[in-house]
Amino acid sequence: INFRSVEFLTSAPTLAECPEDSGAEVAFAGRSNAGKSSAINALTGNNKLARTSKTPGRTQLINFFRLSDTQRLVDLPGYGYAKVARSMKDEWQRHLAFYLEQRQCLRGLVLLMDIRQPLKEFDLHMLTWASEAGLPTHILLTKADKLKNGPAQNTRFAVEKALREQGLDSGVTIQTFSSTKKAGLDKLERKLGEWLRQ
Ligand code: GTP
Ligand code: MG
Repeated sequence: INFRSVEFLTSAPTLAECPEDSGAEVAFAGRSNAGKSSAINALTGNNKLARTSKTPGRTQLINFFRLSDTQRLVDLPGYGYAKVARSMKDEWQRHLAFYLEQRQCLRGLVLLMDIRQPLKEFDLHMLTWASEAGLPTHILLTKADKLKNGPAQNTRFAVEKALREQGLDSGVTIQTFSSTKKAGLDKLERKLGEWLRQ
């Protein structure tokens, strides 16, 4: 797959407005500010593709990016954004759960967590939904550049252990990642290649 040939496809405010459910899709999810848009930009070598922001909650639509006629990446809105009203959050959680469960073309979920605060409540919800939907999940521990390599790998081991203990480890892989340092891109590309292969 040539990730550099990516193009913006469309933004959908609701699931009803998503592109046709065909081909293969991989979605990027995670708490607000986890680095989803930055990771998509790093992957595609295009810093203007997905809008990034210091203000959490920047991405509020489901953004679709086209890799080929049959392959797409999806930037999901961040969850856990404090300034969004409770009712909006509940609404989003329902949308996300519905998307994960219903979207036939969805091949895998990339779940991003800031390496300094992994496995928050909503991350566990996402992992539970993905597991119930039988959806393989690849965890990126993002902003790994904020830690030294030793502590970063220890965090990875701790997250792996916690997932095993909670019975959430099946179909789940995990790596450290940094968009700013472009560290971990090769592993991510390999996983996406595996999922998006026809
Ligand atoms: P929402 O769209 O609000 O859900 O956020 P997001 O998950 O798309 O996060 P975004 O990519 O916009 O990044 C949020 C902030 O984290 C920005 O200020 C980025 O510059 C910063 N950031 C993202 N990735 C990294 C990284 O690998 N290292 C460091 N140090 N900062 C990062
Ligand atoms: Mg974003």
